Amino acid sequence: MANLFESQVLAGIVPLKNRIVLAPMTRTRTSDRDVPNELMGTYYGQRAGAGLIVTEATDVAPSSKGYALTPGIYTEAQRQGWRWVTDEVHRHDGTIFLQIWHVGRMAHPSIMPNGEPPWGVTGERAEHSDVFAHDADGKLGFIRAGTPRRLSTDEVSALVGTFSQAFANARQAGFDGVEIHGANGYLFDQFMNSALNTRDDRYGGSNVEDRTRFLMEVVEAAVRELGPGRVGVRLSPFGKYNSMPADPLAEETLLYVAEQLGRRGVAYMHLVYQLMPAGNMESSEFKERHIDHVLLAKVRAAFPGAIIWCGGFTNRESAQAALDTGLVDLIAFGRPYIANPDLAERLKHGWPLAEADPSTFYTRRGEVGYTDFPAYSVERAESR
Ligand SMILES: Cc1cc2nc3c(=O)[nH]c(=O)nc-3n(C[C@H](O)[C@H](O)[C@H](O)COP(=O)(O)O)c2cc1C
Repeated sequence: MANLFESQVLAGIVPLKNRIVLAPMTRTRTSDRDVPNELMGTYYGQRAGAGLIVTEATDVAPSSKGYALTPGIYTEAQRQGWRWVTDEVHRHDGTIFLQIWHVGRMAHPSIMPNGEPPWGVTGERAEHSDVFAHDADGKLGFIRAGTPRRLSTDEVSALVGTFSQAFANARQAGFDGVEIHGANGYLFDQFMNSALNTRDDRYGGSNVEDRTRFLMEVVEAAVRELGPGRVGVRLSPFGKYNSMPADPLAEETLLYVAEQLGRRGVAYMHLVYQLMPAGNMESSEFKERHIDHVLLAKVRAAFPGAIIWCGGFTNRESAQAALDTGLVDLIAFGRPYIANPDLAERLKHGWPLAEADPSTFYTRRGEVGYTDFPAYSVERAESR
């Protein structure tokens, strides 16, 4: 069985020093105009002990913004800003993929270009979910998502071109690969969900091929730009985050997608099985619908690439136990990485983990709660 600390070569192309992944996490520390900066380079460089770093979700265009202060990858300045980050990670011998998204309906006119409505698969609003935007007084905070405008068929096709340009920018910015954010109720997830996607064009309806067409066209564009082995896809089937309705066809869609991603040379599927606000695997909601081992085995049979498993891992034992099932290849850690930049080292040596303060997750407070957590070896030396 795979050992958590053993190296592997992703898709036979990208070497990873261990099987630990830094899960993508939005941290809202960008500079003006959504430009990544040196501070972000420091943050990711500190975490280069992970086999694979997946960055925070990054906008492909101004229309894809659902949270103020998230980075973009569509201007020259953003591309150069990301270069800081990738150089810093590579200087520390790390591997870094850029997570790319479009939030679709999970946005608000106050952060959309020209105050336009969010872009939707349909006109249906995420009634119960918030985005990080400006309220009526211009103050930043979590407010209800706006009512979306349904995208036309041509607009969806045009978005594929927008993603393609973003992938080219990611390559030029020095990323080792990209992860397409198909999880957590954002645009790709909205298209794939049969209860939400009631469109009657080539991108929607009851036929799985139509509902997944947008994702597949974007995956093809990514593989064209970066080559096979350098593209991953994140999915959260059964997730309810961001007002996603229960999808009776979720399993069918997942297995179809797994098979199609394999055909297109996708390096990994990144499966999330527990979401924010998370932490409660005992909740009836969680028990009701999740990816169990039986379903994972079916995904495994359908998809020849690697599988990353994310959600609720807080120690070495649970991560190794997941690898020992033989059903997954890599384990992603989100929240534990916030206060433990040297998480891989701590897990390896059995060192204690520091606790993060959730009030610093999304703030403009620069390094506070971001880059000011010492590595355990430094902390220990200083306390002597
Ligand atoms: C502060 C924060 C920001 C997050 N931002 C993203 C994101 O940008 N993209 C994404 O796919 N998931 C995001 N997530 C979800 C995490 O990647 C992960 O799936 C979730 O935290 C569960 O893993 P954990 O139990 O190890 O924290 C975020 C989670 C947190 C805590």
